[in-house]
Amino acid sequence: MKIRKAIFPVGGLGTRFLPATKAMPKEMLPVVDKPLIQYAVEEAAAAGIEDFIFVTGRNKSAIEDHFDHSTELESVLHSKGKTDAVKTVQEMMKTPGSVSYVRQQEPAGLGHAVWCARNLIGDEPVAVLLADDLILGSPALKEMCDEWTGGNMVATMHVDPAQTSSYGIVTPGKEIGNLIEVKGLVEKPDPKDAPSTIAVVGRYIIQPSVFATLSTHSSGAGGEIQLTDALSREIGKTPFFGYQFSGTRFDCGSKLGFLQANIAFALERDELKQPLQDWLNKIS
Ligand code: G1P
Repeated sequence: MKIRKAIFPVGGLGTRFLPATKAMPKEMLPVVDKPLIQYAVEEAAAAGIEDFIFVTGRNKSAIEDHFDHSTELESVLHSKGKTDAVKTVQEMMKTPGSVSYVRQQEPAGLGHAVWCARNLIGDEPVAVLLADDLILGSPALKEMCDEWTGGNMVATMHVDPAQTSSYGIVTPGKEIGNLIEVKGLVEKPDPKDAPSTIAVVGRYIIQPSVFATLSTHSSGAGGEIQLTDALSREIGKTPFFGYQFSGTRFDCGSKLGFLQANIAFALERDELKQPLQDWLNKIS
């Protein structure tokens, strides 16, 4: 079965990036010249996703505008003969009707955000992508979809033992290639309680049954409704694997990760690579 739909939870307040995010969604912060959310949408499209569902909140209209035509901009670019720029803004447009928005009226957690999209999903598995987790290299969701044969799946990576309290952490079972059986899952455990250092990164393939579990609205870590908790309740009912993706992940929810991502992605650009590298050598 093919994964056709993806949910992008974009309702967060972005308090760690204030004042930049006072009036602008954190998902619109650019890495080099592209907003975080566009990287996530492009990764989903590379995995064959056809329906793009954004769970938004207040102050998020810039995201809707970003994925819409800007007729005035396009006609100015046309009249100035800036065909490359016209291509850049037109290529990112999705087929009419394939982008939907649903509003999360309160910031009640990632699980709640995903649950808000339930009426747009129906009875099929769906991908979830967190734009804060930016992945350089091979698109992680495509790698996951290629390996997925049913059940639930999360992207995973090893983290420093001191960092377990920032992630969903897996109790690992058997390993088959890049797949790790998930025997347990806990949200943001203290390092002393963490079952491993295998962390969940923001790429998920979830079964529709997860929505039923989420509808119980049980709150977990931080008093929020956690996707991690709903997924952990599915263990034993359906296959559940972690997938160790091959790319490099940047935590763009933190200032350091965001700055690192900007440098790493800029070093991938032909026109920026050498001058940036020269400058980095000079200042280090
Ligand atoms: C969320 C999830 C967490 C996951 C993390 C990955 O946490 O709840 O399980 O490990 O994303 O980035 P957040 O970073 O939104 O607090």
